[in-house]
Amino acid sequence: MPVVPLKEVLDRAFAERYGVAAINVVNDLTIEAVLAAAVEEDSPVILQTSVKTVRSYGRDQLHGVFRSLVRDVPVPVVLHLDHCPERSVITDCLEGGWNSVLFDAHELDVAENLRQTTEVVAEARRHGAHVEGEIEGIQGVEDGVGSDDAPAVQSLEVAVDFIRRTGVDCFAPAIGNAHGQYTAAPRLDHQRVSDLVEATGIPMALHGGTGLSAEQFRDLVARGCAKVNISTALKESFMRSGLEFLRQAEEKGKWDPPSLFRHQRAAVVEMAREHIRIFGSAGRAW
Ligand code: 13P
Repeated sequence: MPVVPLKEVLDRAFAERYGVAAINVVNDLTIEAVLAAAVEEDSPVILQTSVKTVRSYGRDQLHGVFRSLVRDVPVPVVLHLDHCPERSVITDCLEGGWNSVLFDAHELDVAENLRQTTEVVAEARRHGAHVEGEIEGIQGVEDGVGSDDAPAVQSLEVAVDFIRRTGVDCFAPAIGNAHGQYTAAPRLDHQRVSDLVEATGIPMALHGGTGLSAEQFRDLVARGCAKVNISTALKESFMRSGLEFLRQAEEKGKWDPPSLFRHQRAAVVEMAREHIRIFGSAGRAW
């Protein structure tokens, strides 16, 4: 079962209006912990890797870890490449076993983005893989990609035309969401999600999940955000739990790496389970 096409996972979620957590993992511990959370909640899950993680780990090494950890997992799993502006990395990951990619060409003008995204969709199909598209930046820098400036938002017509002509499987709209912790309560354009879903019939990807309220998640999922991205919350739970443990280790003069890893794993599992439950995908594995 484990590795399932993105489209299958999202189509079910979209039809039944629940969200699938798409969590940015950074190493073996976080891959294992997110998978454990999905199994405990009996939920499908999307593991995402940033370009930075692929580069720092090495594509084959990272995929090897993923493959060995996912093998006996009884819930559907997708391996997705998050925000990737580079065609060569897209190709590399599709060839290396990722079954979904976000080609993030929002820095190109929309016509050139559309042309290249159409090529990426054709390339992905040859691998049986799926594509998320993006024409507006998501505010905030995520693993070295993006900008802190608010993005220019395209008209509904431009976005709908892009989605129809490229054939992307899901789309990441800018709706006032941002990567990283929100410094002020976000004012989200919920209606834009409804308008895009109504016009295109495809699921939306909600970026900048960390820091949104349960109410905001539920409303956006109900409007058609079937993929819900979480990255900062994983980084913080992984690192803060490590910091807390290491402070105690120093106090006690006791240095036991497996105990550190257990502590971090527990924090990541809890964070992932909490999000999975809010998104409504618990008990939805097949
Ligand atoms: P956060 O880091 O705000 O959770 O956003 C995650 C994301 O959208 C990854 O693409």
